[in-house]
Amino acid sequence: MAYSPKEEDRPNWKRDFPIRQDEAKHISRREFAKFLCLLSGGMALGSGYVVLNSFAFPDKELEGEFLVCNTADVPVGDMTMFSIKGTKEIPYILIHLEEGEWRAFEQKCTHLSCAVVYRDEVKKIECPCHNGWFSADTGEVLQGPPPRDLPQLRVVVRDEKVYVTAFKDQVS
Ligand code: FES
Repeated sequence: MAYSPKEEDRPNWKRDFPIRQDEAKHISRREFAKFLCLLSGGMALGSGYVVLNSFAFPDKELEGEFLVCNTADVPVGDMTMFSIKGTKEIPYILIHLEEGEWRAFEQKCTHLSCAVVYRDEVKKIECPCHNGWFSADTGEVLQGPPPRDLPQLRVVVRDEKVYVTAFKDQVS
C-alpha cells in the first residue's frame, strides 16, 4: 500500500498546488492536437499576411536619381550599403571598382537572399552562405547555387556625388 501522508503533514506548498508530478508532465493527445492546430493556424496567418502585404504594397520602381553618397566617401576597392527611401527599402551595395568606375547591385543573393559582400582581393562579389560568387562588373553568376544574376542599378557620378537610377533599357 502506498504511503499517503495525512493532510496536516503535507507542506503548505503542496496543499496550495495539488498537482501530481506525473500528471504535470503528461500531455494528452487532445492537448497535442490543439497545439498543432494553433501552430498551423499561426503559420497560415503569417503566410497570408506576407501575401496580402505584397499585394497591398507592391514594389515601386525607382524613379529619377537617388543620391547615395559623395565620391570621397567610398575609396577605390571599397563598398558601401544603402537603401532607397520610398521603395521597398531593398538593400543595395555601391562598389568603387576602379578610379571612376562604380557599380551598384541589390545586396540580396538571388539564391536564398543572404547578404552579399564585395571582395576587392579577387574583384568579385561573394555570398558567404553557400559559396556563391558574382561578377563585380556585371552581377553575373560566376559560381555556386544562385539561379540569377544580381539586379543592378545604373550609377551616375556628377559634381563629386554618386547617384543611382533604374536601368530602363540599356546602359548608355
Ligand atoms: S544564399 Fe547566396 S548562395 Fe545561397
